[in-house]
Amino acid sequence: MRNNLNAWAVSENHFPSFGSIKEKFKFFVRYAILAPSGHNTQPWIFEVHEESLNLYADRTRALPVIDPEDRELIISCGAALTNLLVTMKYFGFEPDVAYFPSETDNDLLATITVKSRDYQPTDEDKIFFKAIPNRRTNRLPYAEEIVDEITFGKLNNAASIDPDVKFLKIDLKETREEMTKLIEHGDRIQSQNKSFCRELAQWVHPNRTSSKDGIPGYAFGMGDLISFGSPFFIGNLNWGDIQAGRDRNLIKGSPLLAILESKNNNPIDWLKTGMSLSRLLLRASWEGISASYLNQPLEVPELFDKLRELLKTNFYPQMIIRLGYGKQVKATPRRDVEDVIKIG
Ligand SMILES: Cc1cc2nc3c(=O)[nH]c(=O)nc-3n(C[C@H](O)[C@H](O)[C@H](O)COP(=O)(O)O)c2cc1C
Repeated sequence: MRNNLNAWAVSENHFPSFGSIKEKFKFFVRYAILAPSGHNTQPWIFEVHEESLNLYADRTRALPVIDPEDRELIISCGAALTNLLVTMKYFGFEPDVAYFPSETDNDLLATITVKSRDYQPTDEDKIFFKAIPNRRTNRLPYAEEIVDEITFGKLNNAASIDPDVKFLKIDLKETREEMTKLIEHGDRIQSQNKSFCRELAQWVHPNRTSSKDGIPGYAFGMGDLISFGSPFFIGNLNWGDIQAGRDRNLIKGSPLLAILESKNNNPIDWLKTGMSLSRLLLRASWEGISASYLNQPLEVPELFDKLRELLKTNFYPQMIIRLGYGKQVKATPRRDVEDVIKIG
């Protein structure tokens, strides 16, 4: 296994049963960092104390063009937070979370303390935990097989932990078509934005990269040779039409198109959206369901309002996700746990 994929080899057998609380917290973070993040920036820092753990947004890893408000950055941190909480519960640590506990430091997203050390994990907690090392973003086409109502119910329950975040299936044919058009439009706008292309090119790497962050070409279905040229293609070719056509086909072939939307468009709701997102993806992965993102209309301001109008919602769409049955794909790199931990 290449060095930059080592993080995925974590095993519950490595839990430091006789270690200090700090060692245990560090072990929990090993699962938190397997969460998805925009462009695989992994924009999180965990500060471990004797009695608590602080989750910080690492804004040095921001994506100012695609994500000028750090919305996706905070959603990514929310996903990591879910993984952390799920892991704590699996090992009997009942977490207590204070969200945005500081009035002066808005990088401090959450402080996690331990309420009890004899928590009995539920079946759902176990499912979420076991799914963490197998979850991947799968951008390839999915099989035609539908996601039945019972399975959808399980995904919906997983995602719906907070009344301020809703998971919605887009099943009306006309709405799907209009949404597809917005996604295609987003592809074309993004491909013509030089700053967007430069930013993306910095985070897409050849398949044989030793980089511990960013997205290797294989995650987009590229072979080794083509992946070598991928940063150049993204930065220099007009790929909007190709991507738009590809996305149209992917949507057409995806049994489930869905969104996560939040009541408010603010950091606390972004964090909650990320928490729901991870639960949704973990449950999906457990059910053998793949997922990937089509967030373009959320990232292009002129399309965002059109999307809200189309969905006739007074909530704020935060993630557009397609789901379906796909083949297992390769994991993407992660930084070492030591790179994201500060010992307080
Ligand atoms: C908030 C957020 C936004 C994302 N947006 C996109 C997107 O628009 N397009 C895409 O292909 N992947 C998107 N992703 C997926 C990431 O690129 C992916 O999680 C990352 O490369 C790590 O790979 P993994 O999910 O397979 O572990 C997003 C992920 C998150 C958490």
